Amino acid sequence: MKHIKNLLSRMWKNSDLQQRHAFRFTYPQRTIQIANQEIDVYQANPNHIKNLLALEREVYGETPWEKSAFLHEFTSSLPHLYLCVFANEQLVGFSGVRVFRQDGHVTNIIVSPSYQNSGIGTLMMQELERFSRQQTCVSMSLEVRKSNLDAQRFYRKLQFTTTLVKPNYYEREDALEMRKWL
Ligand SMILES: CC(C)(COP(=O)(O)OP(=O)(O)OC[C@H]1O[C@@H](n2cnc3c(N)ncnc32)[C@H](O)[C@@H]1OP(=O)(O)O)[C@@H](O)C(=O)NCCC(=O)NCCS
Repeated sequence: MKHIKNLLSRMWKNSDLQQRHAFRFTYPQRTIQIANQEIDVYQANPNHIKNLLALEREVYGETPWEKSAFLHEFTSSLPHLYLCVFANEQLVGFSGVRVFRQDGHVTNIIVSPSYQNSGIGTLMMQELERFSRQQTCVSMSLEVRKSNLDAQRFYRKLQFTTTLVKPNYYEREDALEMRKWL
């Protein structure tokens, strides 16, 4: 069964249909000095997935996004940008935005605990906002757990405000929808 699934997934990836519909955007790799450290920002690609799963495990103790979710996002036909941040050749940050109806929806953001509070999250959000503006978005949005007060504070600092409560959006936990008008 797994073998057939892999085969179908490989066929889809190589198919004309997928090639025709995949959104193509090239983010030029950037090296930035942040908190006295040089970091490299790359457009995420399937080769990063193994490290992304390890980063998720480090931060959450589990993998909210499995390999298939990353692949699905990286090959979406909707405009999207997914970024990986490396420090000392180690993956320390990941985030991404998917555009739908002039809204840049931040689907994921995560920074390795030992690199949090050094500006990496802010930097990634700035890059996602730049991309969203290029895609003529009028807003950016995201969901955050009601209990994740640190992340909410981070988003508020970036001028996001709460627009909606989504009951039980996560298993037995509400989400706040937060939005920023561009
Ligand atoms: C939420 C998260 C992505 C923020 O990323 P981050 O890299 O820690 O964020 P930043 O460092 O850019 O900003 C956080 C704080 O650092 C401060 N900061 C920004 N640049 C800084 C710098 N150069 N030096 C020191 N501090 C800095 C910010 O002012 C902010 O301060 P605050 O504590 O007063 O809010 C990160 O904490 C994380 O991965 N959390 C776990 C996963 C998670 O909850 N994700 C969100 C799911 S919705």
